[in-house]
Amino acid sequence: MFKNTAKTWGGAARALHWILAVLIIGMIGYGWWMNHIPQRPDRYFYRSIHADIGYVVLLLLILRLAWRLINPTPALPVGTPFWERWMARMLQGSLYLVTFVVAMLGWAHSGATARPYASWFGLFNIPQFTSTDKAAAHAYEDNHILGAYILLALIVLHLLAALYRHFYRRDRVLHRMLTGESV
Ligand code: HEM
Ligand code: HEM
Repeated sequence: MFKNTAKTWGGAARALHWILAVLIIGMIGYGWWMNHIPQRPDRYFYRSIHADIGYVVLLLLILRLAWRLINPTPALPVGTPFWERWMARMLQGSLYLVTFVVAMLGWAHSGATARPYASWFGLFNIPQFTSTDKAAAHAYEDNHILGAYILLALIVLHLLAALYRHFYRRDRVLHRMLTGESV
């Protein structure tokens, strides 16, 4: 089953969720690593790879949101308290929003630096929507990094919520994101 139903996620939504989960967690880990390895001349190379994958994250995120708009969203199991529904909605909405903002700040930083991260794996150039400005580049960079760690905190909360449902509530919400089985 490719499309969502009122009771579960279809293959496309599940694939997009897990591919993005791996990419985003990987981007945070890799971003930290590339910035904390000792200063060396090939730093630009590592940052370019990070930026190239970042553009892919942004594209997949937009595809995912578009797919979400034209599909039903599976409801949480009957009997889920109002506050849990509300928390889930707020947290998931924040994950979409903060991921988008972090990626856009990375892109803005790229265009504002003296040497933009425009070339996509050396194949073609991605247009930059900001122009060279040292002070702005620093501000975008600081906020990009701050946003990435806010995103990490939200992901930890999201993971805890999934484990809470699975082990405490013992419902099939984690299961349906993994297998697509209806709940
Ligand atoms: C959701 C996607 C992204 C995530 C989660 C992410 C995460 C991060 C993290 C965690 C760092 C390093 C933080 C630290 O120093 O501790 C970083 C740095 C960086 N990111 Fe991203 N990033 C994303 C997308 C992008 C995009 C789209 C671009 C550019 C087009 C980009 C460009 C950069 C650059 C150039 C740096 C190094 C900044 C510096 O000079 O210190 N990132 N990112
Ligand atoms: C760390 C491992 C992760 C687990 C165990 C997990 C688990 C889940 C589960 C079970 C759902 C389905 C909730 C439902 O059926 O109502 C879900 C939805 C969602 N997850 Fe994750 N997730 C993980 C990582 C991530 C990451 C890294 C992100 C993005 C930053 C993310 C973003 C989302 C969003 C936005 C939704 C809502 C889907 C929608 O309503 O469109 N997840 N996740």
